[in-house]
Amino acid sequence: MPDLSAEHFRQVMAHVPTSVAVVAGVVDGRPKGLSVGTFVPVSLDPPLVGFFVATTSKSWPPIDTSGSFCVSVLGHDQAEISSRFAVSEADKFDGVEWHPAPSGNPVLVGAVAFVDCDIERVVETGDHLLVLGRVREMGVETGHTPLLHHRSSYRGVAEGGDRAAGSE
Ligand SMILES: Cc1cc2nc3c(=O)[nH]c(=O)nc-3n(C[C@H](O)[C@H](O)[C@H](O)COP(=O)(O)O)c2cc1C
Repeated sequence: MPDLSAEHFRQVMAHVPTSVAVVAGVVDGRPKGLSVGTFVPVSLDPPLVGFFVATTSKSWPPIDTSGSFCVSVLGHDQAEISSRFAVSEADKFDGVEWHPAPSGNPVLVGAVAFVDCDIERVVETGDHLLVLGRVREMGVETGHTPLLHHRSSYRGVAEGGDRAAGSE
């Protein structure tokens, strides 16, 4: 019998390296957000991006209601920010520096890049929602090396570690 338990699923998928980003919006004048490792470019024409959010997320439903969100791609030195936005609590933004994207959605200071979106579509899939966003503004912020998540640990991209495909 194949092992399709949640524990084994997590253990296997932990070997897939991901970027780390904070998806954020403004709800009733207050910034809200959560960490995601599932941010991905989807389409060039029209410009679409996406991410997956658990149906248990507390921050997503109010952001969804606002109709838009901004993705801040975290830098290699922002693991603490990632951990802070990965807990369900009211005051994640306390002491966190951000500036508004043209839409007013938060861009975290120190992020590598931001992508500000209107919500295009939300698709139910298993215990997650696939959120598709239509890009309205985007830009490189610090452009520094990104934060990565792999095998339950934060990692940075090794400087000077570029290798030709196929080399050891
Ligand atoms: C590196 C990392 C990646 C994550 N990726 C996702 C993700 O893609 N989708 C998701 O729903 N939760 C993801 N999480 C977990 C959420 O950040 C976490 O459940 C958080 O408590 C959600 O906050 P909320 O309840 O305020 O929405 C990730 C957490 C970490 C640390």
